Amino acid sequence: MKIGIIGGSGLYSIEAFNYTGEEKIDTDYGEPSAAFKIYEYYGNRYYFLARHGAGHEFPPHLVNYRANISAFKKAGVDAILSFAAVGGINADLSPGDIVISDNAIDFTNGRNHTFATKGNIHHIDITEPFCPELRKAVKKSCDSSGLNFSDKGVYICTNGPRMETAAEIKAFRGMGADIVGMTLFPECSLAREAEICYVNISVVANDAAGISRNKLTADEVVETVKKSEDKLKRIILNVDID
Ligand code: HPA
Repeated sequence: MKIGIIGGSGLYSIEAFNYTGEEKIDTDYGEPSAAFKIYEYYGNRYYFLARHGAGHEFPPHLVNYRANISAFKKAGVDAILSFAAVGGINADLSPGDIVISDNAIDFTNGRNHTFATKGNIHHIDITEPFCPELRKAVKKSCDSSGLNFSDKGVYICTNGPRMETAAEIKAFRGMGADIVGMTLFPECSLAREAEICYVNISVVANDAAGISRNKLTADEVVETVKKSEDKLKRIILNVDID
């Protein structure tokens, strides 16, 4: 089985697996954020992609999501575990918690968000944006890894790269959002268009604006994800996908 892994801010490799080298794939949509790092583990082949580039050169609104998903498709990847750092809106969540999102709201704009072209209309169903089998597998892995996690949560995706205002977060809470990030869309909807099974695994990096008493900084986000790196790797190591 070929499994894709998208690492967000603070997750750039998976050392526990057997690293076999890099694979650079060009696509009709341009170059992906980075070359894939290829790993092997118990008969599976893992294609790791740093969403923001190897040196974190692409902010969320400038990631070439179409090239990234298209490269996974070209590589023959069947399932993507996508990791992301988010702000916590739901009061039950604390920094360091893991959320396996179960639904999502798209608040992005101006991004190349579809593979559909003139004459190739593609109204995908995205009622449930995440693959139920993969969500189950990740939940099982979190359970067996002994992690503090929630298997429910609505991810609202903003355009960034700025953080939100306190009033925006209050409004988002009213809309039913539990976590806020900047990279879920169009990544998850493009994966659905490409018919690749996709799951989001979010790490709460900070309390969202107006909830946190601190000024929000990118350093805080990266620092919390770095501290959670071990947990994320355990999820990958223990996930059983077939
Ligand atoms: N808002 C949006 N995106 C984020 C946040 C946040 O508070 N934290 C990490 N990514």
